[in-house]
Parts: sequence; structure tokens; C-alpha cells
Amino acid sequence: MKKIEINIPGNKYPVFIGQNAFDSLTKVLRSKKMYKSIFLIVDSAIMNLHREDITRFTSNYAGKVCIYEYFAKEHHKNFESLQKIFHNLLDKEFGKDTVIIAVGGGITGDIAGFSASSFMRGVSYVQVATTLLAAVDSSVGGKTGINFNETKNTIGSIYQPEFVLVDTAFLRTLPEEEVICGIGEILKYAFLIDQKFFTVLKNNFSKLHKVEHTFITKVIETCILFKGDVVAQDEKENGLRKILNFGHTFAHAIEIEQNHQIKHGQAVTVGILCALDLSRRLGFLEEKLHSEMIKLPLMLRDKIRVKKFDTEKIYDIMKRDKKSRDQKIKFVLLNDYGKLIVDAEATREEVFQSITKGMSHFLPY
Ligand SMILES: NC(=O)c1ccc[n+]([C@@H]2O[C@H](COP(=O)([O-])OP(=O)(O)OC[C@H]3O[C@@H](n4cnc5c(N)ncnc54)[C@H](O)[C@@H]3O)[C@@H](O)[C@H]2O)c1
Repeated sequence: MKKIEINIPGNKYPVFIGQNAFDSLTKVLRSKKMYKSIFLIVDSAIMNLHREDITRFTSNYAGKVCIYEYFAKEHHKNFESLQKIFHNLLDKEFGKDTVIIAVGGGITGDIAGFSASSFMRGVSYVQVATTLLAAVDSSVGGKTGINFNETKNTIGSIYQPEFVLVDTAFLRTLPEEEVICGIGEILKYAFLIDQKFFTVLKNNFSKLHKVEHTFITKVIETCILFKGDVVAQDEKENGLRKILNFGHTFAHAIEIEQNHQIKHGQAVTVGILCALDLSRRLGFLEEKLHSEMIKLPLMLRDKIRVKKFDTEKIYDIMKRDKKSRDQKIKFVLLNDYGKLIVDAEATREEVFQSITKGMSHFLPY
């Protein structure tokens, strides 16, 4: 099992990556002296597909342990689900000594982390990532939250887990659509890290798509190392951390405008193409480099579909985004591989054109 340390000042924690890493959950809890009451929030899909693994853990755990099944859908990442979790915790008499363990993808991790940050004014929690997207991104960094009032992740907190487990064996049961979602977030890192990583991904795209074990493990490590380093430098997103939102201002608005018929990771791919187009349109990105860069996200062209879209609505939702200030949308744009521009602004017309360009790649033929 590989171990990566996330060195956030005052909040250090390890990420364990490996095939069957979940089998080590009890051992890691013990090593961290977390002999507490365990409340597992488990994605119901994981419960159905990996019941044996989950119950092996609960049957062998010496202390109080309870499983709460959560139906992980974007429209369930809301107050109602949060309330149900709190009711359950209180009904089962969980208190301040609770450890909440999220077992699932980004949706489960976000709501479980937020429950942990607010239950009894904060209890410990652990992330067990079961999707590719959670493995490369959402399980690390401590962003937790729920959607509210037609805006993504508006209510939440930054609250770091005690540790993260990425068990690559879980990834074997992922449907292709979810692999595509994970690739969406990996593509973001292709632009954030460097040209070498971009080229490795482009040249090995079929290994990525097939979730080839050795290759995917290396990719997960690369993404987590990069994200961990960024978050360690700017946990509260006052500066550097903003780069991790590359493509996301567009993506969050597209998800809502498309009524969640497009998933987060898919919307990120579309959002990246919008952001690359806007970078070119504003003169940050050279024409030739732009043509080279769009080749990678366009490898997913046949795997993602958007329905007829309302550019005006996407634009209005972007203005409501929590990163907008004074009704001005702030973009993360690109100058070169690994060279980001944060807080960029553009005219309504420029943004409209980039939304149209990015979305049009994915309209049905
Ligand atoms: N907190 C952060 O830093 C951060 C970063 C990126 C994304 N996010 C959030 O993450 C969410 C998206 O995460 P996601 O793509 O992991 O979605 P998800 O949690 O919905 O999981 C995707 C789907 O896969 C199923 N699933 C999970 N693991 C499985 C497995 N091993 N085998 C088969 N099916 C499985 C789930 O039931 C679900 O239907 C969004 O809400 C997004 O806003 C958060």
C-alpha cells in the first residue's frame, strides 16, 4: 500500500492507495488510536456491489459500529439528506466520540464530510474513495458540502479527514460512464501539472479508459501528490488553490442548466473546453497550443452528450457561483501547461461564445 502525506500545516494526514486497501481500515484506525464509535455512510451502490467487504469490516470491528446507506445522486446532496443523517446519528445515540467514515464517490464524501464537520460541532471522519473521481480529487483537500438553491456546493466547510483510503479494487465495478467522469477530473490535472503528464495521458488514453491497474495507480498518485501540494500551500483557497477550479465555473453552471442530466465529471470535460476556448479568445493561449490542447478532452467527444442548452441561463448561474464577486464571474484560465491565470474576467459576449463553442462539441449529431 502506497502512502502519501498531505502536509497541511496543523492538519497533516495520510492517503493510502492500493488494491484491497479497504482491508487495512481497522489496522489504520487502530494505528491512529481511533477506537471510537463508527458511523459508516456507505453509497448504496457500494453496499450492493461490495457488501462482503463492508460487512467483513463491521463484523470484525470491536466497538460500536453502524451502517447508513446513502443513495448517492447529485439531487440528494442536499439538506434533506443531511437531516436524515443527523436523525440517524442521534437515534442511534452517536455522540462526540463518533468517527464518520464515507465509503463512496464525491457525492457521499461531500455530504459525509459536511455531516462530520457540523455534528456535535465537529467529529472525526475518514474518506474511503470508491470512484475514480474521488480517488484523484474529491477525497483529498477537505472541501465538504451540499447543493442549495440551484447552486452547487453553496453550503459547506473546509474540514480535513483523519486519513483517506483509495482502494483500487473498488474501481473494477465502476460503470463506463463513471470512468469517464473520473477522466474529466484527471484531464484538469493534465493542464495543471505539465506537458509531460498531458502527453502521458494522451498517449495512454486506452489504459486510462480501461482503468488499467498499474497505469491508473500511477495517475492517482500523481494527481493526489499535486493536489496535496496545492492544498498544503493554500488550504482555505485564498490564492493558489483557485487553480484547482480550472473548468469548474463553467462545469457547475452546465450541470445545473442541464438539470443534472450530465454528471459532474462529464461537465468538467465540457467546462475545460469552454475554459480553453476563453483562454484563446482573450489572447492568453496561442492558437497552435490551443489546437494541441483540445485534442485530449475531445477524445471523450463520443462519450458525453449535452441536450439543447440555454447560454443565457448558464451565464446567469455562473454569476451566482460562490466564486463570483459583485456579479462578476472570475475565471481560471490557461497560458500554457501548468501556467494558470486566476480571477480573469471576460465580457458577456466572450463568455457566451466560449460556452457555445464548448457545449457544441457534445450536442447530438
Ligand atoms: N470535495 C471536493 O473537493 C470535490 C471535488 C470534485 C468533485 N466533488 C463532488 O463530487 C461529486 C461527484 O463525485 P463522483 O463522480 O465520485 O460521483 P458519485 O459519488 O455520485 O459516484 C458516481 C456514481 O457511481 C456509483 N459508484 C460509486 N462507487 C462505485 C463503484 N466502486 N462501483 C460502481 N458504482 C459506484 C455511485 O453510486 C454513483 O451512482 C460531485 O457532487 C462534485 O461536486 C467534490
